[in-house]
Amino acid sequence: MTFDVERTMSNYRDTRNLKTRISIYDYRTPRIDPTDLAAELMPADPHLVLDVGCGSGRYVQRLRRDHPEAVVVGIDAAPGMLAEVEPPIMVADAQAIPYPDASADAVLAMHMLYHVPDIAKAVAEFRRVLKPGGTLLVSTNVDTDKGAYFALMKRAFTKVLGPDAPPVDSVNVLFNSANAPGYLEAEFDSVESFEDHGTVAVPEPGPLLAFIDSTRSFFDIDDTAFDAIMAAIGEELDTHFAMHDHFEYNKGLIIYRCR
Ligand SMILES: C[S@@+](CC[C@H](N)C(=O)[O-])C[C@H]1O[C@@H](n2cnc3c(N)ncnc32)[C@H](O)[C@@H]1O
Repeated sequence: MTFDVERTMSNYRDTRNLKTRISIYDYRTPRIDPTDLAAELMPADPHLVLDVGCGSGRYVQRLRRDHPEAVVVGIDAAPGMLAEVEPPIMVADAQAIPYPDASADAVLAMHMLYHVPDIAKAVAEFRRVLKPGGTLLVSTNVDTDKGAYFALMKRAFTKVLGPDAPPVDSVNVLFNSANAPGYLEAEFDSVESFEDHGTVAVPEPGPLLAFIDSTRSFFDIDDTAFDAIMAAIGEELDTHFAMHDHFEYNKGLIIYRCR
């Protein structure tokens, strides 16, 4: 899969795909609310906070509750994602943030940098808009994430598309725990990481099939072929659940605090 902004934006036409993906973490142990982790890492009394790639606004909501004196702006490149986020909101690209130099006390970029064509440019933008001493919080996936999940996807991709099937984990590899520090340390003197590892154990095929289908538009695969991939995954899961109570995979979260 090559990088394609149009496919990314089509996935985020509205909040449905993201909400489907977030809902699978109801099956994660230990249960965590990533907004709790981010809230703990925030500076004490920020005035201006920019949540870049805010999606459906779960961090925006949380930070407005924690910091009622602060202005927390929800920023996203996809207008449809902002439909449910209370103002102040802004449609903007992480690579060109329409805020002056040294204006924000904190910037968040949670699970979004793997979608940005020029990651280094976005990180430089975060540095530019932050006040000296300001805090950047970045979250992403752990590089060893979702082993059994990607293996399931790969078997179905290969079955339907043959040996030249596109990789199943391209979004994951663009910005994960293996390469994130390099991008962040290029702009920030201090980069601390906070990891949380868990297991997703899904008790029936439905939530997993919904999760995989929600990623459909990230792939350069036509609908007929993707439907065949979904059918192959469905068959494999039926066989799996005839013998097992759960389908399990590892799922880590890493948050970087950069100053
Ligand atoms: C996986 S979602 C994460 C949403 C939210 N941060 C969260 O963790 O719940 C990625 C979000 O980044 C947005 N996005 C993708 N590319 C972007 C860009 N270049 N600039 C700003 N937002 C972008 C998408 O529209 C989507 O809402």
